[in-house]
Amino acid sequence: MKHILLGVSGGIAAYKAAELVRLLRKQGAEVRVVMTQSALEFISSLTFQALSGNPVHTELLDTEAENAMGHISLARWADVLIIAPATANTLAKLSCGLADDLLSTLYLAATCPVYVAPAMNQAMWSKVVTQENIARLIRQGVHIIGPEIGDQACGETGLGRMSEPMTICNQLVLALQDQVTFSELGLQGHRVLISAGPTREPLDPVRYLTNRSSGKMGYAIAAAAIKAGADVTLVSGPVELTAPANVNLINVTTAEQMYQAVMSSALEHTIYIGTAAVADYSPIVSDKKIKKDGNSLTLILQKTKDILAAVSALEQRPFTVGFAAETHDLERYARDKLTQKKLDMIAANWVGQEQGGFDSEQNALQVFWDKGDKALLMTDKGQLAEQLIDLIIERIKAR
Ligand code: PMT
Repeated sequence: MKHILLGVSGGIAAYKAAELVRLLRKQGAEVRVVMTQSALEFISSLTFQALSGNPVHTELLDTEAENAMGHISLARWADVLIIAPATANTLAKLSCGLADDLLSTLYLAATCPVYVAPAMNQAMWSKVVTQENIARLIRQGVHIIGPEIGDQACGETGLGRMSEPMTICNQLVLALQDQVTFSELGLQGHRVLISAGPTREPLDPVRYLTNRSSGKMGYAIAAAAIKAGADVTLVSGPVELTAPANVNLINVTTAEQMYQAVMSSALEHTIYIGTAAVADYSPIVSDKKIKKDGNSLTLILQKTKDILAAVSALEQRPFTVGFAAETHDLERYARDKLTQKKLDMIAANWVGQEQGGFDSEQNALQVFWDKGDKALLMTDKGQLAEQLIDLIIERIKAR
């Protein structure tokens, strides 16, 4: 789980920082908040405590806080420091290296990447001294997000509005992804079997039941496994994608065909990753087109074979990674599947939401194993697949 330290300084945009905490936590990050004294005039520390689920830090010299998590340990804890809003005064202090409160001291002590999202009146922003401070911060390696043009709380219009929390959140997600080191060739010598895409269960000669899986997640995992040096077999349901070069592609249509293809080669592989959205039930196929006879039609569906459970039940089974697509109670259902199907790992994702899951370019995963878990934040499926492969390599080594 990524650690984000959020510094809030005293400006009217401080209320937007509350939304930022919510968005970052939604991405699976752990957030701790540091507030300056003037920030406390704008928004209560209780708001941040409730949203972050952690105590809020406000004092530099607080014996109790130093015992629990002092300024040096807080700085070490952070994977990234973001100051939003960053007032003109805070920027001036940071650029000169002043350390007269907790936030400015943290900035000096931090070795992680630092981002600031300035927010101030447009005249203050365009003042030469502010621009010199910004230039000095950039030279110190600080990343600046915004500000943006728009209506300001003071009634003026111009450059100085803090960027929207979503914009800041997206930049931080990208920054954290850059810190991920993809283990090139960490799968050399491994043979990886991946199932991808939907299955199609025929009803009659002209109709079938299927789902919204595009295959993008599974194909991205296949590409990442190849990049990591593995020999890859991809058992794919019907999708409109081109398989990555050097993949041994087996095309199937139904859940039964996918079961046969996976089971006939599972023992030749060292890792199985079940990304496919396999039909849980399939209809009894009519050999003639079903006629439109009544106002309603009842279909009788039969349970399909559980491919993932069958692979993990093999005596010499590969390292078995399942997926879980959930609309609610994600952790509970994912952990149930991990235990019931005796998996080594399960990657759970939300489906039926605005972002991520079926047929989207992006996704986020919450990965669970018996004694741990890791959040892989929302990103494009290519990046996410590399992060998942990294984690699989790490878990195989830890066994
Ligand atoms: O293909 P995309 O558009 O890129 O979308 C990606 C995805 C959302 C399909 C993918 O990330 C995902 O969540 N795949 C699993 C979908 C699913 O069927 O989840 P489930 O919770 O119903 O199944 C749990 C696990 O059992 C899965 O690993 C599934 O492959 C496996 N299973 C299910 C039924 C069955 N008969 N056999 C199985 O092996």
